[in-house]
Amino acid sequence: MTTALVAFSDLGSTDRLSQIRISIEQRLDELLPGTGNERDLVALAMRESTLAPGKRMRPMLLMLIASGLGHEGSAARDLGCAVELIHAASLVLDDMPCMDNASLRRGRPTVHLKFGEDVAILTAVALLSRAFGIIAATREVPPAIRSELVELASNAVGMQGLVRGQFQDLRDGQQPRSPEDIAITNNLKTGVLFGAIVDMAWLISDSDESTRSSLQRFAMELGQAFQMYDDLCDVRCDTGKDSNKDRGKSTFLSIYGEQELQANLQMHLSNAEKELRTVFVDADVIAGFIVSMFKKAAVTS
Ligand code: IPE
Ligand code: IPE
Ligand code: MG
Ligand code: MG
Ligand code: MG
Repeated sequence: MTTALVAFSDLGSTDRLSQIRISIEQRLDELLPGTGNERDLVALAMRESTLAPGKRMRPMLLMLIASGLGHEGSAARDLGCAVELIHAASLVLDDMPCMDNASLRRGRPTVHLKFGEDVAILTAVALLSRAFGIIAATREVPPAIRSELVELASNAVGMQGLVRGQFQDLRDGQQPRSPEDIAITNNLKTGVLFGAIVDMAWLISDSDESTRSSLQRFAMELGQAFQMYDDLCDVRCDTGKDSNKDRGKSTFLSIYGEQELQANLQMHLSNAEKELRTVFVDADVIAGFIVSMFKKAAVTS
């Protein structure tokens, strides 16, 4: 059984955002494997890591942008959930002892600490595999577009995206890096998935090429701002994950310091908003949603 999509059009923006969030949480619950068997630790870890309280920024953004572009079906929600599973998989791996060696994620013990490293690796593989299955099964989308969606996700995960970004971050982050190199790595590990989100929303809607280009620029600016924000939170906020994990790593924060980082973050955020406003006559709800994602560390000095 699948949950009904809510009719968003008549809701005020706060109600609308919380309805979208609830609808995503419900759909994630349906798309993840059941946990009838308590010895099925991979299924349990898939559910716990994904359903733990995350911001749901990526699926919400996908649904908001697709809706803004005129898409009215349920495909946006399923694609958003698939991206959320990809994101959850990346976090499970990122937390492992061989990577960031983290103990807390979304306010809970990390998957490898709770279930073991073997289960953590298998959970990440299973989440990725489920994500691709969900994208391939968006039957309301014509087959040719569906295969483009799968290709997009594949590029965002692999050597043109998350995997390369994570590898560069782990290996090069231990040495001094130029701002240009940090920007390239941050784009790969964070921006490219935002790029896939807006491209997916664009592909299932009926919009022109210039809209696609503007949305890509928006996503890249957002990716830079968001990774800067995440680095700032590492020293500043209570985020439900380990603090001071980036100590000794070359980041924009270590190069610029907090004040200058904030100014840079603001610049990227405002560039992102400008791009958004070239696409949508009324971008207030999406822009407001994005700003709310940055609220844990005040972004003004
Ligand atoms: C954390 O992402 C990893 C980065 C790419 C910076 P989020 O800050 O969106 O994490 P959740 O989904 O809210 O847990
Ligand atoms: C990782 O960046 C981003 C991923 C793509 C996994 P971080 O290592 O800074 O993310 P957090 O701070 O652990 O969420
Ligand atoms: Mg990391
Ligand atoms: Mg980390
Ligand atoms: Mg971080």
